Amino acid sequence: MPLRSVVKGVGAYLPERVLTNDDLARMVDTNDEWIRQRTGIARRHIAAKDELTSDLGRKAALAALDNAGASVDEIDLIVMATTTPDNTFPATATRLQAKLGVTRGAAFDVQAVCTGFLYALAQADNMLRLGQARCALVVGAEIYSRILDWEDRSTCVLFGDGAGAVVLKAEAVGDGADERGVLSTTLGADGRFYDALYVDGGPASTGSAGFVRMQGQEVFRHAVKRMSESVERALADAGLSLSDLDWLIPHQANSRIIDKVGARLGLTPDQVVVTVEEHANTSAATIPLALTHGVQRQLFKPGDLLGLTAMGGGFTWGAAVIRW
Ligand code: ACO
Repeated sequence: MPLRSVVKGVGAYLPERVLTNDDLARMVDTNDEWIRQRTGIARRHIAAKDELTSDLGRKAALAALDNAGASVDEIDLIVMATTTPDNTFPATATRLQAKLGVTRGAAFDVQAVCTGFLYALAQADNMLRLGQARCALVVGAEIYSRILDWEDRSTCVLFGDGAGAVVLKAEAVGDGADERGVLSTTLGADGRFYDALYVDGGPASTGSAGFVRMQGQEVFRHAVKRMSESVERALADAGLSLSDLDWLIPHQANSRIIDKVGARLGLTPDQVVVTVEEHANTSAATIPLALTHGVQRQLFKPGDLLGLTAMGGGFTWGAAVIRW
């Protein structure tokens, strides 16, 4: 029987310190009403000075392992999506591996900004299905507070810090679309849009980390289009259609983007998981954060069809379809 990747557990972590919209209004020329109306964001969490991306990832990973009833000894693959690595090298995934006490298997980072979690999920899924690993941790972890220009109100209000993780195991569950597991993943990129969303630094350009720069409206337009199209493509790849979809778990950047994607896909608002209000855009961490939110509230029933989708810098985009 062919192997399929099955989600065994999910977990998330948000740093203790909360920064509200009112707090931000004391730092830059903005206000709670503007931020809520334009983005749906009410607050974001900010990592402590001594917290690293690998620390956030570790807490989310431990929560996911606990939820899965799995032990660290089972892990033989760690794929970490992050745009804010602890250091330029080695991969933050290897630091996470050491912090978890895992000493076998592969560990590497994936950099696809806000689409990072889906890129990481696709790599882990492919390796599990090929039999190259048996139990994977897929982690999205970010500390955006360290790459934000806190004087630029057009970007600093949008992002936050956080982490989420998923434990995936290879199981011989059959290959029908009604069998549980990851049914399909689809990824895309178009590097011509580099300037619309980027960080103005890096080891080879300036030697420092740099700050997020963004053309908000350009990003908004592409996000709605690419996220909707990706879900349709992933469904088609799995031999399914929109009417089969029970839940949308979109990247949490902006509630207006999410509303438009949901409407384009013909979903009702109660089929769409929205958590952006609580943590703002945590880039690669938003999808596992939203998945964990759904699991904690017992939203997903066995057999439900979940569509995950994201779009981010690059531009990059993607989707995954999972039978729960
Ligand atoms: N507070 C108050 N006013 C602000 C703020 C702020 N934080 N930021 C901008 N403004 C002002 C602008 O200066 C402008 O003023 P003006 O009319 O006097 O010139 C006015 O608000 C409108 O600005 P716009 O940029 O036109 O506002 P828009 O409605 O496009 O909303 C936003 C901006 C929220 C950034 C929107 O474009 C957006 O959400 N884009 C998507 C960006 C995104 O989500 N990026 C995340 C990374 S990519 C991803 O995850 C998909």
